[in-house]
Amino acid sequence: HAEDGSALWLRYVTGTKAEISCRKQSPTLNIAVSELQKYWKGGLPVDLEVNATKELRALGNEGYTIRTSADGKQITIASSGEQGVLYGVYHLLRLQAAEQLSESNSDSTPNSKLKVLNISEKPDYRIRILNHWDNLDGTIERGYAGHSLWKWEELPAVVSPRYEAYARANASIGINATVLNNVNASPKILSDEYLQKVKVLADIFRPYGLKVYLSINFSSPAALGGLPTSDPLNKEVIAWWKKKTKEIYSLIPDFGGFLVKANSEGQPGPCDYGRTHAEGANMLADVLKTYRGIVMWRAFVYSPTDSDRAKQAYLEFEPLDGKFRDNVIVQIKNGPIDFQPREPFSPLFGAMKKTPVMPEFQITQEYLGFSNHLAFLAPMWKECLDSDTYVQGAGSTIARVTDGSLFAHPLTAIAGVTNIGDDINWCGHPFAQANWYAFGRLAWKHSLSSEEIGEEWLKQTFLPIAGQPSHNSVNETSQKERQQLHSQLSLLNSQLLQESREAVVDYMMPLGLHHIFAWGHHYGPEPWCDIPGARPDWMPSYYHRADDGGIGFDRSSKGSNATAQYHSPLCEQLDDVNTCPEKLLLWFHHVPWNHQMKSGRTLWAELCYAYDRGVQEIRNFQKLWAPMEKYIDPERFRDVQHRLKIQARDAVWWKDACLLYFQQFSKQPIPYELERPV
Ligand code: GCU
Repeated sequence: HAEDGSALWLRYVTGTKAEISCRKQSPTLNIAVSELQKYWKGGLPVDLEVNATKELRALGNEGYTIRTSADGKQITIASSGEQGVLYGVYHLLRLQAAEQLSESNSDSTPNSKLKVLNISEKPDYRIRILNHWDNLDGTIERGYAGHSLWKWEELPAVVSPRYEAYARANASIGINATVLNNVNASPKILSDEYLQKVKVLADIFRPYGLKVYLSINFSSPAALGGLPTSDPLNKEVIAWWKKKTKEIYSLIPDFGGFLVKANSEGQPGPCDYGRTHAEGANMLADVLKTYRGIVMWRAFVYSPTDSDRAKQAYLEFEPLDGKFRDNVIVQIKNGPIDFQPREPFSPLFGAMKKTPVMPEFQITQEYLGFSNHLAFLAPMWKECLDSDTYVQGAGSTIARVTDGSLFAHPLTAIAGVTNIGDDINWCGHPFAQANWYAFGRLAWKHSLSSEEIGEEWLKQTFLPIAGQPSHNSVNETSQKERQQLHSQLSLLNSQLLQESREAVVDYMMPLGLHHIFAWGHHYGPEPWCDIPGARPDWMPSYYHRADDGGIGFDRSSKGSNATAQYHSPLCEQLDDVNTCPEKLLLWFHHVPWNHQMKSGRTLWAELCYAYDRGVQEIRNFQKLWAPMEKYIDPERFRDVQHRLKIQARDAVWWKDACLLYFQQFSKQPIPYELERPV
């Protein structure tokens, strides 16, 4: 039996038929019942209930409770909404698959007594949304797992079975929304022809609670509708959007709304007509309001100017705070530049009080080694969500700014730019599935730790499935073998998954370095890149600023003063080279090569040690992975092993390229005890 990764973390096997009851019927509830009938093996009957008790109403129609009855003879999953029941079912199946249901603490004891369950859950964000950067021709911008899942040329007539599998996978982790197309949007997505195709997908996704949204091109009225302008204040333009929106809702009555990238990287927008971002967003918001649709307006804006690119989103959006309609939410990338392996959080999160804002994370690894490198991103997203903006004093974390608890905005959301393609295992790297999984889990509950998420995912993904004809010796898994596998997974969690993002930072861009990627593809290093005539803010030398005097971008009050965009006391902390966290040092300061670091080393030596540590870590990952050969199928084992080889080689490439390049400025030797560059 070969595992190809196509089942994701949902490697359930059919169990002995359990008694599942549910008084109501509906497409969503039918899925809930059938999932349990097929896969619940816990022995106890399960009752599914849609009920409007006070407790359940407080949890909302996506929240739920899972409880064992007082006599211990039944489990009840209850919610005030059908969707909550389905989420509760996936919760129960997750506990089962991760072997977290048994009473004894040794998870590995099969058939031990079921835990008494008393679970109550409710999502932290209202909209938990994937952003596909999929083009209509099947290519994916920054996609590394094949072509688009959406077979536009076959739709609406031919329906791939993967559409439903996709909806199910999302429902299993609480994702309830998806933007189907690239933010660099083709106007064609709003044509009658394409809307018919979108409708088919929306119909398949609906019972799983997954709502469809679309990225729109702001000049659609001109490009698609043939109008002379797309000025958002022009009456005909507004009438065009009204008509188009009506058409969308007649096909998809629960359509979510529009995602808009405007006046950024050459995309059209309201500023082309002398209007503000708010005027552009509000026009669309007014049109969508009738149907309860929303606008997600992206704050990822920049254009070549001589100012600091890291400051631009704040400069353009902060003055607009309070000028947006209440069905507009501003979507902000976690960092002020662009999904780098490490960035400080975007100061815009602390600047908008009257306007709801939402984080945009990148699940696809545009800047973290594509699908070749293993990098578990939950630690990176947690780092952002847990950052304190100080906007309302200490404790104003980004999680609280965006989940509605700090400012009582009813509209809350969180977006992840997906890593899904039509590869058989969906995400390319078998471990990249963990990032799709982690995004969903954090969007549901941002207080989950990265370790908990890692453990859940590893167990669901790699534990042998009891009763399944297996690949090797673990077939008739003995108690001892199960325990060994459990300890191996726990090592993989703590020493590989949890360390992997930091390892990438180390071998690519330690100490706050950023954007020293090869121009265009963003895979390998190219700190020396200097293309005459190209935009200065695309050149690595713009970001690292290495010279004989030192390295790093001076964003302190003596430089671009980007530090002033943060609230006190963070602003002062970042501004002072002696108090700025070393992991962000070169982001905020231009630092002399001999600057003394906390370790006692010079900056140059510290840089050398960081790059070297990154390489060593990947070699350690290879060793940690090796014992998995005896526990899992050869396909997934070799796939990961092979990619780790690539990653180890790339880490050396990064280290050597960067150190040899920067050495011409530092004019100092690489510490003798470290590995020599090849
Ligand atoms: C990055 C990425 C682009 C993308 C852009 C965006 O710059 O390289 O491909 O279009 O982000 O988020 O809009």
